[in-house]
Amino acid sequence: MPEDALWSQFFNPPAVLRKLGLISRCGDAVDFGCGYGTFSIPAGKIIRGNVHALDIDPAMVAATQARAQAAGLVNVRAQMRDFIADGTGLPAGGADYAMLFNILHAEEPLTLLREAWRVLRVGGRLGIMHWRYDPTTPRGPSMAIRPRPEQCRSWAQQVNFRQDGPELIDLPPFHYGLVFRKS
Ligand SMILES: C[S@@+](CC[C@H](N)C(=O)[O-])C[C@H]1O[C@@H](n2cnc3c(N)ncnc32)[C@H](O)[C@@H]1O
Repeated sequence: MPEDALWSQFFNPPAVLRKLGLISRCGDAVDFGCGYGTFSIPAGKIIRGNVHALDIDPAMVAATQARAQAAGLVNVRAQMRDFIADGTGLPAGGADYAMLFNILHAEEPLTLLREAWRVLRVGGRLGIMHWRYDPTTPRGPSMAIRPRPEQCRSWAQQVNFRQDGPELIDLPPFHYGLVFRKS
């Protein structure tokens, strides 16, 4: 991950979350690979439920915890976890929203999507955001592993998610989004 100050310049998190359908009556949400809490913290401000902010990197967990504390948020639960190797440890069907933001270039995207499916309740939503498939973006994974929107859609559909809303959501300046529902 680049430094937090640089990373945060690439996003308008409240606008991203709004466009990806995170609404105030949302119960619990799961942020897979929370990084600096770039999205966990604004999500915690929006929803009435808890945000389970999970990351394998203790420095990222500490950063998210510190930001939650500084913001006075008691509903952001940052936890160190390798969700590919060990799953999230969260109960099945308990979450209203799953966030897969800048993470689907991971080695096992289907494992990740299956875990998102498991933790969501029926009717719960999955938001995917990723860097545009464009080598001129200032950061982002190498083009060899960077997924196109069609690839993300295909993976999500293989795990039985149904697309919800527009075919493709523009998240300027450098990202795209997709929303799915567990039906
Ligand atoms: C590119 S960052 C994206 C952070 C955040 N989602 C965002 O968009 O600002 C990916 C994050 O996923 C975490 N990560 C990668 N593999 C993981 C795994 N198997 N389990 C938990 N976290 C993981 C990394 O440590 C990193 O913080």
